[in-house]
Parts: sequence; C-alpha cells; structure tokens
Amino acid sequence: MVVARALRPISTRLRASRYIVDDPENNVTPYIANLVGKNLHQTENHPLYIIRKRIESYFGSDFEIFDNEDPIVTTTQCFDDLLIPPDHPGRQKSDTYYVTKDSVLRTHTSAHQSQHLRAGHQKFLCTGDVYRRDEIDSSHFPAFHQMEGVKLLVDGSWTSRDEWLQSSDCEIVAKDLKTTLEGMVDHVFQQGSSLEKRWRDDYFPFTEPSFELDILWQGEWMEVLGCGVIHTGVLERCDVSQKRGWAFGLGLERLAMVLFGIPDIRLFWTQDPRFHSQFTSGDIVQFKPYSKYPPVYKDIAFWLPENNNFEENDFFELARELAGDLVEQIALIDKFKHPKTERTSCCYRVTYRSMDRSLTDVEINQIQDSLREKAALALHVQLR
Ligand code: DAH
Repeated sequence: MVVARALRPISTRLRASRYIVDDPENNVTPYIANLVGKNLHQTENHPLYIIRKRIESYFGSDFEIFDNEDPIVTTTQCFDDLLIPPDHPGRQKSDTYYVTKDSVLRTHTSAHQSQHLRAGHQKFLCTGDVYRRDEIDSSHFPAFHQMEGVKLLVDGSWTSRDEWLQSSDCEIVAKDLKTTLEGMVDHVFQQGSSLEKRWRDDYFPFTEPSFELDILWQGEWMEVLGCGVIHTGVLERCDVSQKRGWAFGLGLERLAMVLFGIPDIRLFWTQDPRFHSQFTSGDIVQFKPYSKYPPVYKDIAFWLPENNNFEENDFFELARELAGDLVEQIALIDKFKHPKTERTSCCYRVTYRSMDRSLTDVEINQIQDSLREKAALALHVQLR
C-alpha cells in the first residue's frame, strides 16, 4: 500500500491533497480529486471547448469571459449567496462533495455569480467543471461542465419585490433574456429559425421568475438550460440592489453529446487518439464511433440494513472508487420486501466496460469481489 502510494506521480499527490483533507466532513474520493484540474473546457479542439467557444462567439466581446476559477468554493458562494435554503437537497453530503464543513467542489457555476456582481461586472460568461454525486449511466458522470451567463440591463428603484415583479422593467428583462437565449440556441445549433423551441416556467431559488428552455431535436423535446430574472435578494446581497438583470446556466456535455453525436459521457475524459483526432478542425462534426470494447456484466444482490439506512449514491461512489471509469452503468434490476422479515433486498447490475481496451475476467472479478466486500463493510448491507 505504502509502496503504491509512493509511486504515484507527485503532481497527482499534490493535487489530491488540496481536495482530500483531514476533515470529518470531507467526502472527496481520490478518483474525484484526480478529475479536478483536467480543464477539458480549456483544451483546444476538445468538443466541450468547441461548444463553449461557439456560445462565447454569439455573446461577443461585450461579455467578459471567466474560465479559470477555483472549483473549491465556500458554501456561502455555492448556496447562501443564491438563497438556497439550509435544508435544500443539493446541500446534502449524499449529493455534494464537501472539502470541509464550509467548502465544497462547486455543484454549479452559479456559485461564481455573486462574486463577479460584487466586483462590478455586469455582463459575463463563466465556464467551469462542476461536481455532483449522482447515478451511473451513459449520461451521468460525477464531474461535468457548465456555463453561467449574467447580464444586468436596467437601473431603477422599486419599493417592494411585488412592485418590481409587476413592473414593465421586469418584463423588459425577461423579454431580453428570452430573445437572447433563443438567438443563442439558433447560433449553436445552426438550424436558423427552423429550430423549434418552447419555454416552460420553472423554479430556482436565485431567479424570479424562472424559466427553462427546451428545443425540439430529432423529434424529441430536450431541456437545454435553466434561467430567469435574477432574484432581488441575490442582488441585495451583492450591494447592487438598484440594478436588475438575468442569468442562465447550461450543461456543456448535454449539448456536445447531441451536437457531435457522442453516445457516452465518459468519452469526454478519454485519452484515446481515435476520439481526439476526430475534432482537430475545431468544428462541430459527427462523431464516428470506433469499435467499442465488450462489456462485462456482474450482478450484486444484498439486503439493506434493518433501519433501511442506505444511500444509493454511497454505493455508486464505492463502485466509482474501485472501478474508476471502467464502470459504465449501475442499474437496479430487482427490489422486493421479504413478506415475513420485512427486509428489503436490492439487486444491481453493474456494467463494466473500458473505453480504451478489453477487460480481463481476472481484473473484473477482483473489482467485483472488493465491491461486495466493501459494500458489506462500509454500507452495512448483507450480501445474498
Ligand atoms: N445552477 C442551475 C443548475 O445547476 C442552473 C441555472 C438555472 C443557472 C437558472 C442560472 C439560472 O443562472 O438563472 O441546475
């Protein structure tokens, strides 16, 4: 164990030591710590970089660009400044990577809104890697990338929140927001005005009113972004309560997956030249799948602890920790309650597959055995 650690490259150890600290609240795993700092959104000709540049070119030089902020933010930046209440599920340790009690790996790029507003910036785009504990399948990965956009555009004084919400200025901001974002998706998808869009009302604690924009893409409605008129409470906390504007946030992977036809979110992280050589032109081109290596399926079944104290995300994380990105998907395939003992049994099917090579039976059996062993030990489940 000690030998293996000593052999890890120094850069990896240094990096990990910023995120994995000796603190009872810390739940960042080595696997996650090694993803931080890869900066795919800054890597020229990477699909995420290409999408990001395309969006930035739409907004033009009027908007300041931020793409290099520290992914460790305080809970004040990530939640309080955005009026996210203390009991919000997004704050829970089951969903978020805590570095210490008061700092997290940012769960969204909205975490940087307030600092830039406080510093006097009025129009900006801010892109970065974000981290969430989540399920495992082809479209979910614990690290992904978001872009946040903010524009302040009206000045004035309003005596109450209601007065503001009913004012024509509030309408002006919402209208500017919708027109701007419709133009943005037309620009990104290059479908001209034929791209069908629909607006839906939504809820975010930091915008009021809040909306979601969907587009019709290959016959299906797809959610593209969340946005809204910045909540007066957010602006007050930044000491810009005489100004009003809008904000939006979007996930770059989801856009890149549909635009480039990339079928699996893990591909963004691959080192395989068969992936990267396809995007050297810096244009949006259709990804040509190269042969996939075969999957290996393994089932694991267990009784949940008697108190039912079991977080699925803890199990997913354990699999990530042991298998890294060799785990492609974990699906619950069976769940039932024993009629007499009333205990719950779950069976998960784990799909292992490498993006870069064939897996051997020996290595997968080893991983699966440790997954069984560690699940029993750490999650107090009883293997079946
Ligand atoms: N931060 C939100 C998320 O990660 C996305 C978002 C929604 C950002 C609305 C915004 C906004 O700026 O106005 O889900």
